[in-house]
Amino acid sequence: MTGVTAAKDQGMFSEPGLSEPVTRVPLEVDPETRRLWLASASDFVDRLLDDLAHAPAMGPDRAATLAALARLDATPQEQPRSLDDALSWLSDAGSLGLQTSGPGYMAYVPGGGLLGSAIAGLVSLAMNRFTALAAASPGLARLEHALIDFFCREVGYPDTSSGVLTSGGSLANLSAIVTARQNRLGDDGDLRFAYIYTSREAHRSVAKAARLAGIPPANLREIPVDTRLRLDVGALERALEADRGGRPFMIVASAGTTNVGAIDPLCAIADVAERHHLWLHVDGAYGGAFILTPEGKTKLSGLDRADSITLDPHKGLFLPYGTGCLLVRSHAALEAAHSESAGYLRDLMDGGDGTRSSSSLSPELSRNDRAVLLWLPFWLHGVGEFRRALSEKLALVAKLRESLRQLPLEVPLEPELSIAAFRLPRRRDEPLDSWNARNGRLLSAINDRRRIHLSSTLLPTPIGPAATLRVCILSFRTGASQVDHAIADIAAATAEAWGP
Ligand SMILES: Cc1ncc(COP(=O)(O)O)c(C=O)c1O
Repeated sequence: MTGVTAAKDQGMFSEPGLSEPVTRVPLEVDPETRRLWLASASDFVDRLLDDLAHAPAMGPDRAATLAALARLDATPQEQPRSLDDALSWLSDAGSLGLQTSGPGYMAYVPGGGLLGSAIAGLVSLAMNRFTALAAASPGLARLEHALIDFFCREVGYPDTSSGVLTSGGSLANLSAIVTARQNRLGDDGDLRFAYIYTSREAHRSVAKAARLAGIPPANLREIPVDTRLRLDVGALERALEADRGGRPFMIVASAGTTNVGAIDPLCAIADVAERHHLWLHVDGAYGGAFILTPEGKTKLSGLDRADSITLDPHKGLFLPYGTGCLLVRSHAALEAAHSESAGYLRDLMDGGDGTRSSSSLSPELSRNDRAVLLWLPFWLHGVGEFRRALSEKLALVAKLRESLRQLPLEVPLEPELSIAAFRLPRRRDEPLDSWNARNGRLLSAINDRRRIHLSSTLLPTPIGPAATLRVCILSFRTGASQVDHAIADIAAATAEAWGP
């Protein structure tokens, strides 16, 4: 291979006529380089996905990670470098830390990452159309409109509803709180006595969003939970009574808490919201997607009574990170909280056929085309395949739970969705610290086997917050064989923890 060909293979060439060759890669790459790059990227993804099935569930230990980080220089350079070198850099960097898209990853909330979305990302980023205003890209803006309508039908919302795709659950929760604040309290800016009610088990993005929306942190009422870690409706009523005379305006319930997948009693909470004229938002970032399954429709009964709902397709619909969703029963309320007009956009304000513009429903204007990341997988697999995959996750966790019950472990709660929690039981009179330390060691012993990766949390007990391990099965790549690995590794580590 000649030097020129080699350079070409790398997507570089030397500028002719200079004694010192200067390599340049013009921003508009020539067709040959383009084909080489696309082929290299496609080979890389192909290998990556082949390897994923056998890759360890966690990156190397801390010392090896620090050594690798010292070698990974990410500083931009003046001169071009090859795509192959960049892909090798990315492969090294990606091997560190949590392997969120692998089949053995059952910690926190698994990532997944459908190939169809990655292809959609490549294609839509290459198209690079402006989809925030319907008039600027009427065809592509329709994708988001159609997806939102699909979700509104699935959750049982009326025709007045709409929504928007966000970057994730946190931003969906933020827009929900801003919409509720604007709808119930107007724009007078007096938030000193504005109260939001949520459970102690709610995701921290709710507290963060409330603060960002200007609600004083002390005005977020974190209501105690019942024995199943669901918001205690009696305690909610008492808190509302205590705040009489203030400006309570919103309840945020969870449809699947991050800790254990607990579903707050949505119908009873909706009754309270109605009686007190409060906006009810349901955070379904982890659990909302199960509404696509027959089992989920029963478990999430009452979801349709919410004023707004967070879904998070990059969790429950297996998309790569970057796609959340907010649904709102009243399109008018969402638009009133988010729309602005500007003289420089006057030529683009009319979408023509009624397709909604995402910019008037969200804090964002320019953004990537999120809808296509979901639309293409729906197109390629059909929605039925998603329903089946989600039902499979519920069945897998039921199987796992039955096996956990055969072990000398405490299984504090019946899983409502696809999370199972367990821990070593407390010894007689054992101090909390020692009990928590033993469960910490159990977690390490399971994860050190590197076939599966779990995380732990703190759950309330009579003697204080107890370290509890959790298995969250949500990746489309996690199937029966990984659950068998999980059962075997948990059993082996538990036997070690109890000793001979
Ligand atoms: C219940 C719940 N709400 C909100 C979020 C935040 O979502 P995101 O990470 O997409 O911003 C999460 C994330 O795990 C979650 O589990």
